[in-house]
Amino acid sequence: MVSVGIIGLGAYVPPNEMSNEDWMEYVDTSDEWITTKTGMKKRRIASSDMCTSDLAVEACKQALEDANLKPKDIDLLILATSSPDVPLSSTAGIIQDKLGCVECAAFDINAVCAGWIHALDIGSRFAGTSGYQNVLVVGSEIYSRILNWKDRATCVLFGDGAGAVVLSEVGNGKGILGSWLMSDGSGSSVIEIPAGGVRTPFNSEDFEEGKQYFHMDGRAVWDFAIEAFPQAVRNALSKVGKDISDVDLIIPHQANINIIKAGMEKLNLGMDKTFTNLHKYGNTAGASVPIAMREAMDEGLIKEGTLVVTAAFGGGLAWGANVIQF
Ligand SMILES: CC(C)(COP(=O)(O)OP(=O)(O)OC[C@H]1O[C@@H](n2cnc3c(N)ncnc32)[C@H](O)[C@@H]1OP(=O)(O)O)[C@@H](O)C(=O)NCCC(=O)NCCS
Repeated sequence: MVSVGIIGLGAYVPPNEMSNEDWMEYVDTSDEWITTKTGMKKRRIASSDMCTSDLAVEACKQALEDANLKPKDIDLLILATSSPDVPLSSTAGIIQDKLGCVECAAFDINAVCAGWIHALDIGSRFAGTSGYQNVLVVGSEIYSRILNWKDRATCVLFGDGAGAVVLSEVGNGKGILGSWLMSDGSGSSVIEIPAGGVRTPFNSEDFEEGKQYFHMDGRAVWDFAIEAFPQAVRNALSKVGKDISDVDLIIPHQANINIIKAGMEKLNLGMDKTFTNLHKYGNTAGASVPIAMREAMDEGLIKEGTLVVTAAFGGGLAWGANVIQF
């Protein structure tokens, strides 16, 4: 088995910033409520002429540059998203075309906020094998366009952004050591867009009721997330024969500072062992982990020898973690 790791890392967030105060123009909320309940202060909102594929392309360009590779060097492109450009065909194909990754396979995966963890695991199983030397994995989301801007319980929580990595063969004992993934489909309605699929094709009443938008049972997600996050970290570590004491840094899905604090407490780790940027970007769903990873690296928290666990949880319900030896 070849060792596969991250040889290039990129992230992109659109320039337009929206603060907690800005949300007060749209819904009955306050900076105090959002800050206390989530830790969020700002998020980025993509301009109306930008699609999920456009954010992805920017992150991919950075990852390619960081890896010192050209688009034509990519053999497989995997996109994690739950806010695709169109329901079909795949947004990965649109990204492939915009980037100019000729002669490569491309597909989307949807595991909502845990999509990145799943896509990285899938990518790491292809990379370095026959015909798939270099794999581009990207998480990209424009949640601002699938949220109901009248639902204060959800609209303030999310932001737009993208993150990408190039996976390729690395030195022995380095790279993606392993991953642990899990789903519980009995909770599929806890986070959902109720209409627009084949179960409930759109009709005019759905639009009046806002069923085309993101819906969430926040309490149920909270109860799930505070257990799922530490469980994923522990199970991924045990799969690769590592102990929690070996870990240098945990990069969790940036859903809520209180979920991260509760999870870190359950892992008996201090907050100095984690990295958060949700105060700047909110929850960027399938893009949050690679964006945080890029920033943690820029701040010198990830370097040669650092053992990182990335973990995410969300709609599906789906959750999981990757163990990465830099
Ligand atoms: C969403 C979350 C912050 C809400 O916190 P909570 O303590 O459960 O709050 P509740 O939903 O019980 O609401 C408490 C009150 O705040 C109100 N409220 C909800 N959103 C609000 C907002 N943006 N501003 C002000 N008040 C708000 C509610 O209407 C409710 O008011 P009421 O008591 O008069 O009915 C919390 O449940 C959470 O973090 N859940 C996980 C969500 C998540 O991370 N999802 C993504 C996973 S990938």
